[in-house]
Amino acid sequence: MHDLFSRDREFVWHPFTQVAYAPDNIVVARGEGAYFYDVDGKAYLDGISSWWVNLHGHCNPVIKEAIKRQLDVLEHSIFAGFTHEPGVVLAENLLKLLPGFGKVFYSDNGSTSVEVAIKMALQYWFNNNQPKKKVIAFSGAYHGDTFGGMSVAARNAFNKPFEPLLFDVVHIDIPDDENIDTVLRDLEVALSNNDAACFIFEPLVLGAGGMLMYKPEHLDALIALCQKYDCLTIADEVMTGFGRTGTLFAINQLALQPDIICLSKGITGGFFPLGATVCKQFIFDAHVSSDKTKTFFHGHSYTGNPVVCAAAVASLGLTTSSSTTEKIASITAQHKQFAKRLKEFKNVQNVRQTGTILAMDILSAEQTGYLNSLSDVMAQWFLDCQIILRPLGNVLYILPPYCITNEELNKIYDAIEQFLLTN
Ligand SMILES: Cc1ncc(COP(=O)(O)O)c(C=O)c1O
Repeated sequence: MHDLFSRDREFVWHPFTQVAYAPDNIVVARGEGAYFYDVDGKAYLDGISSWWVNLHGHCNPVIKEAIKRQLDVLEHSIFAGFTHEPGVVLAENLLKLLPGFGKVFYSDNGSTSVEVAIKMALQYWFNNNQPKKKVIAFSGAYHGDTFGGMSVAARNAFNKPFEPLLFDVVHIDIPDDENIDTVLRDLEVALSNNDAACFIFEPLVLGAGGMLMYKPEHLDALIALCQKYDCLTIADEVMTGFGRTGTLFAINQLALQPDIICLSKGITGGFFPLGATVCKQFIFDAHVSSDKTKTFFHGHSYTGNPVVCAAAVASLGLTTSSSTTEKIASITAQHKQFAKRLKEFKNVQNVRQTGTILAMDILSAEQTGYLNSLSDVMAQWFLDCQIILRPLGNVLYILPPYCITNEELNKIYDAIEQFLLTN
């Protein structure tokens, strides 16, 4: 047994892990392309981009070089009263890709990008002397593990111990062709008192809630209603951003645009944690005043870290390159073909795809959602095949890094078919 394994077991508390029955942690020694290698040199194909963060492969040389260059110049500086080139260039580059938006606010991760968005929206109304406090969200949503993020998420096992302390949110159902009129009616009821500050949503795909997908035209209808009642809209693109849904951002598939966007995960290509909350100029303007109490009093010690921003600038360059755009289209096309093959299997339901995300429900007698024991069985089965897939309950999905080759993707498809045939 490797020494690191026992030291880890003794000293480290891991995220989202029930040690009472979790399998032994794999000690990772290095990463390259779509693979991790453990301390014994065993390769693992990363089919979920390391919790959805990795875009261009592990240890991507372009991002690595950008980080090295920045490390020789400036490792960190306070971001209040000071600024620096990577922080400015990243904001400029993001805003070039998000026409109609005015400012970028940096924080540390997906959860903080959501906290910032909710606080910006609430303070927008506070500063305008219009006391709107109601927050609307989807019932199956996940927006992170901070208290604001948990409050706007679905009420479930993730946040049960904290439920009494979460702020009230009006939850509406995820729309589909059958329920869209009811969902629109429910939203209008929530909006009709003109006291709704914001509606926050994961555009097109609700990730941790089970890769639940819905149509852009339905989201457009919800946004239109919010606009009619002067309720701000927040697109949480933490998971969907940077090409995952087939377009650079999921909101590129909409006719209407939100007022605020939350970005993280893929923003640095999976090298560093970074959150970015992008807002329309009028939201920023509402915080500009000779009255100091209207200041947005939010920040983190590492806000706008220059090395992190340099990694993000490099990753964004790769993400918008023609070769990545082609790769995203090719993964999307390959998934589509594989989805057809899955129709043969009776133990698979609701095969669904949005861009590079392919998800399916594996038939199970348990109705336990995320806690379904099938997830552990499946995760271990694929690990034994040296493939990293981390199902959400009985929901199996692939969300690969864009550097994955056709062969590697086929290896994952074949393993899934094998699992379905033998289980
Ligand atoms: C849509 C969405 N929002 C927010 C978060 C929280 O991000 P983080 O884990 O970086 O705090 C996640 C994480 O999975 C997410 O999928």
